[in-house]
Amino acid sequence: MCPSNSIKLVGGKGGKAVINTTTCLACGTCVASCPVDAISQRHFTDEQLQAQLNAIDPLSTYPLIVAFLCNWCAYRAADLAGVSRMKYTSSVRSIRVMCVGRIDPSLVLDAFRHGADGVYIGGCILGECHYHSGNYRCNNRMEELKKMLKEAGIEPDRLKTVWLSANEGEKYARTLEEFRRRLLELGPIGKGRPEN
Ligand code: FES
Repeated sequence: MCPSNSIKLVGGKGGKAVINTTTCLACGTCVASCPVDAISQRHFTDEQLQAQLNAIDPLSTYPLIVAFLCNWCAYRAADLAGVSRMKYTSSVRSIRVMCVGRIDPSLVLDAFRHGADGVYIGGCILGECHYHSGNYRCNNRMEELKKMLKEAGIEPDRLKTVWLSANEGEKYARTLEEFRRRLLELGPIGKGRPEN
């Protein structure tokens, strides 16, 4: 799972997994993958990401889009869209992670539980993740999650993955706007929120 092969089992049978902090790239992919939640990532702990979610007022906009953006390409594309004064929806609330490999399905579900009408995940172009394979890991997880959402009665279209280069501010703005329109077509998940 680790793109830099920095996790080793030491001590043989009954030993423990140890992370080599010298070679670790700190992408967070292992955090999202660990089946027993035994790993956390400094500055991007579950609690810290959850706190950012909790800081979003779910009634502040409709549809509410929570965007998880990787630091290296998607966040920079968003920044470029901003400094280039491109017009795009104000319905988005973004949360930065080092790599989308850090996004585990429970975080996406938390975003929906918190009131998001849609979750947008922006990462580097497939094959160009700064940590080798974090975006592929994320993509696989999100495809599985879409099946689970469908079973739970939530339209899979409410979860969108977009792969971007840092210079694709226009694509960021355009895909967000397309997503907003799709969410308007789907309507609110819950009731009681006004449309505008
Ligand atoms: Fe951008 Fe991994 S660093 S997806």
